[in-house]
Amino acid sequence: MNRRDFIRLFGISCFVNCLPIAFATTYAAKPKPKPKPRLKQPSNSENWVNIGTVTELDKAGQIFKEKSPLGAVLVIGTSKSKNIIAVNPTCTHLGCTVDWETEEKIFLCPCHASEFKSDGKVQNGPATKPLLTYKTKIEKNLVMVRRV
Ligand code: FES
Repeated sequence: MNRRDFIRLFGISCFVNCLPIAFATTYAAKPKPKPKPRLKQPSNSENWVNIGTVTELDKAGQIFKEKSPLGAVLVIGTSKSKNIIAVNPTCTHLGCTVDWETEEKIFLCPCHASEFKSDGKVQNGPATKPLLTYKTKIEKNLVMVRRV
């Protein structure tokens, strides 16, 4: 091997050996795309959920929606009521669905007779925890609730 061939082979060898390093530095130096900023999701407490219409509420005096984004919701009252009540009607004792007793103005559990006041607090056990309550409003003929 003469001197010229040696230099040519040496040059090719250097070039081939440096290729992976050149690729690695090229791709490593590329800036990673920035993640897109997420839109701030309103918390659940800011979300009003449509449970039904004022017409339905006025007709029956209550609306029961078993599956809403908030879970089960029972709304009691009419559009003329000063206070429209909304609770999760799942009894906190063992999970039966409570009924609204209009005369006594209480929620009564048909399974073991727990009684809850209109604000969801326990009046008589065996349940010891209150019903979950919701805020209510009427907007454009819709009955809306949200978490307290
Ligand atoms: S499930 Fe309601 S009182 Fe037992």
